[in-house]
Amino acid sequence: MPTPSSLVTSLPASGIRQMMAKAMAIPGVARLDVGEPQFDTPGHIVDAAFAAARAGFTKYTASAGLISTREAIARSVSQDVPTSVSADNIVVTVGAVGALSSAVRAVVDAGDDVLIPNPGWPNYIAMVRCAGAEPRPYALHSDNGFVPTSHDLEGALTPRAKAILINTPANPTGAVFPQKVMEMVLNFAQAHDLYVISDEVYGKIVFGRELPHTSAWGLGHDERVIVANSLSKTYSMTGWRIGWSLAAPDMTVQIAKLQEAYVSCCSSIAQKAAEAALSGDQACVHAACGAYHRNLEIAEAALDSQGIGHARSAGTFFLWVDVGCHDSWSFADRFLQERKVAVAPGDAFGSQGHGRVRLSLASSVEQVEYGVQQLAEFCASEPRA
Ligand SMILES: Cc1ncc(COP(=O)(O)O)c(C=O)c1O
Repeated sequence: MPTPSSLVTSLPASGIRQMMAKAMAIPGVARLDVGEPQFDTPGHIVDAAFAAARAGFTKYTASAGLISTREAIARSVSQDVPTSVSADNIVVTVGAVGALSSAVRAVVDAGDDVLIPNPGWPNYIAMVRCAGAEPRPYALHSDNGFVPTSHDLEGALTPRAKAILINTPANPTGAVFPQKVMEMVLNFAQAHDLYVISDEVYGKIVFGRELPHTSAWGLGHDERVIVANSLSKTYSMTGWRIGWSLAAPDMTVQIAKLQEAYVSCCSSIAQKAAEAALSGDQACVHAACGAYHRNLEIAEAALDSQGIGHARSAGTFFLWVDVGCHDSWSFADRFLQERKVAVAPGDAFGSQGHGRVRLSLASSVEQVEYGVQQLAEFCASEPRA
């Protein structure tokens, strides 16, 4: 009897998805577990999709995407980075996941290592393993605001290291890299001849009170940089599955080849919707960002008033909370069963997530208020580790 690939059977299941499945089975749960914007996709974007379907945009596109979509992405990106970007730098991908998986595959050979953040989004591990490479976590510390130092990166460096994966603004900590940290990462990559894969999917969700978002692109190392981004979080378009890779033209050609092998191309209708999102009124982005910021302030105030420690989120819609528990899986499980609030266990994000939980504040203000109030009471009733 044939058996499935051992590479695939050994992939871990996502801890966040497991918690989601449990939460969905219980009616009336406040959902602070999943990173899904509460808002509907803005109407003008949905209208553009209907119009595109009626106008016959229902066929395969080039594997790198429609040229008009690549140009719209390039125009939008050019406003946010120091150097001008063209369609030759862009592949339209199936969400940021498509860009990240292709980026990893485009740079590693079997047996190579990829440095990944700890705590970090768990999907990086599966992406790296699927490419036949090994994830090497670099620890991020609260006393450095959860951004890496060169010492942290050196701690994970191996002779087979081929790339470093970074995430700013960061899931789960909400940390945003200051420009000097981004420059340190790029210089580190140059010194050790590594690629830099930069996940900037939350780049538009920054609260401005501390730091603007700094992209890895346009800082003098673009030949070794691949940026992954998407419309998912920015425009509440998680289900449309449109993202992009931003890379040097030679690398863009390689990524387009991978895209051809795995998905042929992205949905033609969703690509036209993406053009409407990027070229249209950006008021929806500012409104959503304002709502996430208000939810963050409510959550921080509730936790601060009870003396519960948390990271200082400068971006994303996540709050990384120090609940001081022995086991964050059982904490999140009991919290769900007893208080009807779903949160993501910190250990799902790596060993540095021990004793913590991640709150997603992309839910309604009522759910956030209820959820943090319950968390404060639950923590007070729990023995601290
Ligand atoms: C850090 C990070 N990168 C990428 C993604 C996936 O983005 P997309 O839905 O565009 O594939 C997520 C989704 O939760 C995320 O948190």
